[in-house]
Amino acid sequence: MRGRFITLEGIEGVGKTTQVATVRATLEALGRRFHGTREPGGTPLAEDIRALVLAPRIEPVPGSAELLLMFAARAVHVANLIEPTLAAGQDVVCDRFTDATYAYQGGGRGVPAAAVAALEAITHGGLQPDLTLLLDAPPALALQRANRRSAADRFEAETLAFFERVRAAYLARAVAEPQRFVVVDAAQPLAAVSAAVARAVQTAVVTWTHGPVP
Ligand code: TMP
Repeated sequence: MRGRFITLEGIEGVGKTTQVATVRATLEALGRRFHGTREPGGTPLAEDIRALVLAPRIEPVPGSAELLLMFAARAVHVANLIEPTLAAGQDVVCDRFTDATYAYQGGGRGVPAAAVAALEAITHGGLQPDLTLLLDAPPALALQRANRRSAADRFEAETLAFFERVRAAYLARAVAEPQRFVVVDAAQPLAAVSAAVARAVQTAVVTWTHGPVP
């Protein structure tokens, strides 16, 4: 049986790395085989593109260039890792996917959603996540947490207004596709966030295994 595709999304500082670990631990406890990966990145070439697109630089980087680099990395990642893993019957847990492009390049940089959709169709046509966990918190709070960490990349160096737009674009996507999104309030204490994430994964796995709960 084909594996399931689980993605995690959210702005910097919402605790995504910690919750990736929660998802993995939950899947493990349920006895599912999975592969953890991230975007941009996940394969040698895609990780090279990640380094290019995240590096702070003096030269301006147009939103369109970011868009193309994100999808170049994604095309390689989908073809060489995500699709083969799902086809082999393993789940894929991916730290960010195309929702991040709608949020960051679309919402953040102002790239038209139609441009994102066109590249999405070319890059991964029918493939969509089965479950997307959106960790949501006000940017003022999340960025405070993110700033405690070192070395800002090109995105971490962005303004509060940028992250407000990114957050709004994420939430709009969650409203548009409620069947695959679970929005988790990441402003709660860590234990509550982890519990909500674990519950969402457990519920999804039950549905995949036994069909929808009546
Ligand atoms: P990370 O810090 O969560 O690994 O993500 C790297 C950065 O890349 C993060 O600031 C969000 C950004 N990004 C985009 O702008 N567009 C995308 O499509 C993806 C996957 C990430």
